[in-house]
Amino acid sequence: MKRKLVVGNWKMNGDRARNSALLDQLLGAMPAGMDCAVCPPFPYLSQVGEILRGSDVALGAQDVSEFADGAYTGDVSITMLGDFGVRFVIVGHSERRALHGESDVLIARKADVVLEGGLVPIVCIGETLAERESGVTEQVLHRQLDALAVTLSPEALQRIVLAYEPVWAIGTGRAATVEQVQAVLRFVRRWLGRHVSAPERSQVLYGGSVKPETAGGLFGLPDADGGLIGGASLDAQSFLEICRAAT
Ligand code: G3P
Repeated sequence: MKRKLVVGNWKMNGDRARNSALLDQLLGAMPAGMDCAVCPPFPYLSQVGEILRGSDVALGAQDVSEFADGAYTGDVSITMLGDFGVRFVIVGHSERRALHGESDVLIARKADVVLEGGLVPIVCIGETLAERESGVTEQVLHRQLDALAVTLSPEALQRIVLAYEPVWAIGTGRAATVEQVQAVLRFVRRWLGRHVSAPERSQVLYGGSVKPETAGGLFGLPDADGGLIGGASLDAQSFLEICRAAT
């Protein structure tokens, strides 16, 4: 039985005091029987990594440079993330695609860099409201997924985590319905079946306004392997309830 994976994406939030208080509450009550990670902003990787050390909660990062160490001002390399004990790296989040112009090709390259660095990429895919309303959701997802298959071998594709995050559900409080999510996760699983040897072993998460009251229904879906949680991961009780729904 695959364990569910629940990842908290803190985005550009937190400070040393709030991080410490949040994690103290989390670590004191985290349920067993699931995989969990939190992804703080880069400046807090050291603090959060130290607090998580020895716990069952893994450390994640929210992005990575496509380049190795060198003259890339402002970038953070995969070797630096590994230096802090990072295990998961979110790549291709819709906010980076939209605000930083990250292309499907760049995201595939970043996923490859993460795998080469011995870490696990969580590759975000998802359609905008305009794309969904015009009925091209599957074409968009197909394009985003195919870009990964151009860069990554089938063996590498088998090792990535995918996160379906409909852009229109992120931060809006309007999660996709379980029917919408299952339909997309099934589409993604069928795509994986054409590109990896064991699609049932791949981990596919859902993200987009996951709340304690909706988590159980989402995680109960046959093709859902967990969640990528934004706002609710900044509140210890909410995140704990979501984690409990994953066990
Ligand atoms: O990466 C997860 C994030 O995009 C979802 O955000 O606040 O809708 O849970 P939120």
